[in-house]
Amino acid sequence: MAEEQTEREVVRGLKDVAAAETKISYVNPMGSLYYVGYNIDDLVGRVYYAEVAYLFLYKRLPNQKELDKFSSDLVSEMRLPKTVVESIHSTPKNCHPMDVLRTEVSHLGEFDPEGHDFSDAANMRRAKRLIAQVPTIVATLYRSRNDLPVPKPRGDFTFVENFLYMFKGSPPEGEETGILHRLMILHADHGFNASTFAARVTASTNSDMYSAVTSAIGTLKGPLHGGAGEKVMEMLDGIGLEEHVEEYIKGLLDDNKKIMGFGHRVYRAEDPRTKHLRGIVESVCHRERTMSLCNKCIKIEQIVHDRKKIYPNLDFYAAVAMDSLGVPKDFFTPFFCSSRISGWVSHVIEQYEDAVLLRPSSKYVGEFGRPFIPIEER
Ligand code: CMC
Repeated sequence: MAEEQTEREVVRGLKDVAAAETKISYVNPMGSLYYVGYNIDDLVGRVYYAEVAYLFLYKRLPNQKELDKFSSDLVSEMRLPKTVVESIHSTPKNCHPMDVLRTEVSHLGEFDPEGHDFSDAANMRRAKRLIAQVPTIVATLYRSRNDLPVPKPRGDFTFVENFLYMFKGSPPEGEETGILHRLMILHADHGFNASTFAARVTASTNSDMYSAVTSAIGTLKGPLHGGAGEKVMEMLDGIGLEEHVEEYIKGLLDDNKKIMGFGHRVYRAEDPRTKHLRGIVESVCHRERTMSLCNKCIKIEQIVHDRKKIYPNLDFYAAVAMDSLGVPKDFFTPFFCSSRISGWVSHVIEQYEDAVLLRPSSKYVGEFGRPFIPIEER
């Protein structure tokens, strides 16, 4: 008897499918982005990254006293378990930093001081610890790869200053802290992007927060998502001189290749984060390398828009902004994680509250009724 299959419509790539409700962020296809009701244009340059992390967790902006407490709590949670630090030191120097980050976040789960306490209060504490510890893993790995010691976080520095201090080994200078605050705010959340969705799927099974974040990190790593920034810098460096931009980009487009850092699943207009990132890059264009990268970017933007009518996304100018901070390209995605962690953990908590298993169906297009042949007759 032939098997019957219920007719199902497949939404390829889950395009435009709303998989759950969220109060954390809204991605408007017409080119705006809201964090818990605030347009990012009203936040960037006016608030600290820690205020945004607080906003995601508590759904309101903190007052000064609350921010001071939250920020100093984050700084005091930056320390990693000794075994995790040793494990970071023992990783092969040629593996990708994202591989280490994925493993060490999972590793942190073994040392969670609250063990199997999955109460709301414990999850909130866990969320803050992860927001604090992911940047420390990134800084520790970078220092370890360069055979350099990691300075201990300082009580007189903000959370973001400490991240930069631990990464670079010296106190942040000039405009660096302001740039990193803005970069981290712009990377902090973005609706149901692939890595957030991965985190929520894992959380929807009532699995723990470390498992959910590990899923997210593995998903962010891909070049169609957070891994795009590294590919953008490979392209910019690969172009060589500015006068080769046109030939290089047109060559890629003629071969139907994707230009990394362009296009978006949701936006039909320019990504609202781009103007802020372009602004950051332009503000540090007095540096020769940044100026040259920036000039290439402007030319690429024009060529790609003329040919494909698409715009740069977050990863395009963010790559140049991170480069201007002295971050090497294989650490771009770990930097992205160091900020997106605040969005992920907030989504995980929201998913626990929603308490529904995320489990779609599929349309089976394989065969039915194949005659079974025992192994000795195959
Ligand atoms: N370069 C050239 N053409 C492109 C690009 C691109 N980067 N992105 C989309 N297109 C074209 C694509 O060829 C297709 O054209 P046509 O209809 O003629 O075949 C059309 O635009 C639709 O593209 P799609 O790939 O079907 O769209 P999607 O919604 O599935 O993909 C995307 C979205 C982000 C995966 C895609 O734009 C892409 O691969 N971009 C490059 C990688 C990238 O920059 N990723 C970062 C994403 S945003 C930030 C983040 O998540 O980190």
